[in-house]
Amino acid sequence: MAVAARSTQVLIVDDERLVRRTLHKKLSREGYRCEEAGDAEEALHQMGGNPADLVILDIMMPGKSGDTLLPELTLHYPTTAVVMSTAVVDADTIIRCMKNGAKDYICKPFNLDNVVDSVERALSKMEAELAVKNHQQMLEQRVVDQTKELHKLSLGAIKSLVVALEEKDKYTAGHSLRVTDISLAIGKEMGLNTQELDDLRWGALLHDVGKLAIDPAIQNKPGRLTPDEYEQMMMHIQVGPRIVGPVVNQTITDIIAHHHDRHDNKGFSQFLRGEAIPLGARILAVADSFDAMYSDRPYRNALPVEKCINEIREGAGTQFNPEAAAAFLRLAAEDRVPHAVCC
Ligand SMILES: [Fe+2]
Repeated sequence: MAVAARSTQVLIVDDERLVRRTLHKKLSREGYRCEEAGDAEEALHQMGGNPADLVILDIMMPGKSGDTLLPELTLHYPTTAVVMSTAVVDADTIIRCMKNGAKDYICKPFNLDNVVDSVERALSKMEAELAVKNHQQMLEQRVVDQTKELHKLSLGAIKSLVVALEEKDKYTAGHSLRVTDISLAIGKEMGLNTQELDDLRWGALLHDVGKLAIDPAIQNKPGRLTPDEYEQMMMHIQVGPRIVGPVVNQTITDIIAHHHDRHDNKGFSQFLRGEAIPLGARILAVADSFDAMYSDRPYRNALPVEKCINEIREGAGTQFNPEAAAAFLRLAAEDRVPHAVCC
């Protein structure tokens, strides 16, 4: 028989002093450090001060019975193994105790060698269960870490796409970042929650990524686009979601797909109108239009800030969602539009 490690502590819970003393003596000889408790209350008190590695728990005790105490012990002390002890072999009670987390049971009158076997078996079971649990936790943590790392890599790749886009179009350098800042300011002003703001951030950063597929000659044309060229340029709202769809969520691709939708449904090939347009796209449309007007374009210089703000005001309820436009105008009135030097 293996001698227990000196640090293994056993709490013997039994209302009969003689039983406690007998078990105490036998297990001490086997190398266990033993403590005793005469009832459930005393057992909980002792566990609170110094939790045992194993509890031998009598089922029939005055006051709270052992099978009633068992769920409390397994809940609060999940690394403690419990061995039930009983004078009457009641199969239903024993099965219930095993279901509630007991690792083994012993029957009175005790064969003391069997008691030692049972204690060792229960400790081994607990050790194996804890090892499996730790391994599972380690695997779960590894999955979480790797998912985070993959997400980071994907977003890093996406950001590179934005850089590539802005390298390709000399007139829109910095546009995506500025539009992101302005969109987030409007979103916060409208009281969007953390998830909505996060989706808005990525939708705004990536809103024009589909322009990577547009002919640079059209993108950089120093003059107004012909209807054909405009049609080609507007393909970016279909291409963008296809480029980033595999690595971002549906809300973000919807924001990208609908950022040119007008509130009054008079936009180029749009299918949604009014409140049916995704929330992020309604906000992005305001930020995008403002920054486009406020920047130099191939065919004109940047417009004065007052004129840009006025265009948003006049477009509220027609081109722009009224709430998003109103939130932008509140920011403008307080000189809080990012990147804009207001009047
Ligand atoms: Fe766009």
